[in-house]
Amino acid sequence: MIFNKIEEYLVYGIAAALLYITWKGISNFLFSPIRHLHLPGPIPAKLTSKWLLMHDLAGHRTEKVHSLHKQFGPVVQVAPNEISFADVACIKDIYGSSTTCIKAPIYSKIGKLGLFQMRDPEQHRARHRRVSPVFAQNILLQLEPLIQEQVGILMDVVERKAGKAFDALHWMRMTALDVAGEILLGKSFDSLKGENPPPYTHYLDNVHLVFALWDLAPWLCFILSRIPLHKFQEFWKAGDYLYEYGDNALRSYIALYGRKSSRYDLLTKLIAGNAAQSISPLTDEEISIEISNEVLAATDTTGNTMAYALYQLCCNPKWQQRLRNELRGSDGREKSWSFQSVQHLPVLHAVIMETLRVYPAVPCGLPRITPPQGTKVGNLFIPGNTPLSMQAFTTQRDPSIFPNADTWDPERWISTLGGTVEMKNALLVWGRGTRICLGQNMAMMEMKIVITRLIERFTIIVASQRTHDDMLITDHFALIPKGGRCEVVFELAK
Ligand code: HEM
Repeated sequence: MIFNKIEEYLVYGIAAALLYITWKGISNFLFSPIRHLHLPGPIPAKLTSKWLLMHDLAGHRTEKVHSLHKQFGPVVQVAPNEISFADVACIKDIYGSSTTCIKAPIYSKIGKLGLFQMRDPEQHRARHRRVSPVFAQNILLQLEPLIQEQVGILMDVVERKAGKAFDALHWMRMTALDVAGEILLGKSFDSLKGENPPPYTHYLDNVHLVFALWDLAPWLCFILSRIPLHKFQEFWKAGDYLYEYGDNALRSYIALYGRKSSRYDLLTKLIAGNAAQSISPLTDEEISIEISNEVLAATDTTGNTMAYALYQLCCNPKWQQRLRNELRGSDGREKSWSFQSVQHLPVLHAVIMETLRVYPAVPCGLPRITPPQGTKVGNLFIPGNTPLSMQAFTTQRDPSIFPNADTWDPERWISTLGGTVEMKNALLVWGRGTRICLGQNMAMMEMKIVITRLIERFTIIVASQRTHDDMLITDHFALIPKGGRCEVVFELAK
């Protein structure tokens, strides 16, 4: 009797859930604020935003959206109220300096409020004015010894491991982490000095997932994060750990060097402000948030890009030899491979640019929303508060600008003397406009120094066929090689 009742309730429950889901889908479709635009797109995307979310969670959002553009054209409806654009001419409308679109609400859920997360243009402008001077090229050149020192430690690791399988993804990440620590926190993580990564990397690995889960199901996360199991607690505290680490680093730095030190790193400059330009320093709390955010922004982006550059040099031995010839034919050696001695070498530049094009570290759409009054994007008028985006992975594979777009071919940057105007316009790898990456000069300097010193000295091949599978792409906002490793073998070059 009691079982019959339970069965009955279960049937009612399932029927109610199905009814709700059907109604939700139909109402999403019928009452979508962008329905009148009659945009092409897959049917499931017009019924529910969960469809794209599933691809996102599976790590294939970027590739899915890219294939939708191939199928449906340059404007695609990817959710009941969300549009993806692929026409390069629209970049300026969505991301350009005079755009009226702002960062989407998701940014306020990614960690603590710093420059990267700020959505209000006024608030961002004020913070940008105080932080961006620190990243100027002339200041970065003064930091070069700190980068060269870390790369020197990397060279010792590679030399020790020459002839054996070497996980280039791991060691490039550790290099980027140690450089970021040295420049932004005032001390390296010393991860290049040990075999095991420092605890920081464990939290770094989890932090994006933790932020994403909080956004998806805050109540469930609240409950799960209170389960008193060590492993659970460790997982959920990823964000807190990274910010605490930054805060402690700032305190130790001030205790060690004071507020006016002669040490050349970005932290010194942030702490000091710039009286000559009437730039007052940020508060200690603001500084600790900025430096914590920046270590996050700097590590996997730069590390993954360097790993993909090395991987492609394995796959293309002719380019590897051409690069080595260029480096050895330059006066770089006499100048201890200083950045200035190699920064304008065309093959080196082309190898880095082509890697940034094919493997943008943030490959997916950078989410924005239109202003309340709506705005024009290309020829379309988009209603207010509509989420929209463009993805670097797609603009940088526009076949009318990059023939054989899926092929890694540095020649396209050499034959055009560093890239045509169209090629440069299609690059979204650093973002665009007022929200463009602040660390691009630092990243370029680091990547050029690392690739120079490794390729000048060593030859590199893949350790086995498995490396090709490992380096297929997945993404969770950032690009993540599928296998989580990139096994290669270095040998001393003749
Ligand atoms: C290959 C390396 C890198 C790539 C491809 C990259 C890419 C990007 C992209 C696409 C954005 C824009 C995000 C958006 O609009 O949503 C961004 C923003 C930012 N990046 Fe990078 N990044 C790299 C390295 C770095 C480094 C080394 C640092 C700092 C040391 C850094 C600091 C920042 C900051 C502070 C922002 C926020 C700028 C703002 O909103 O005003 N990045 N980066």
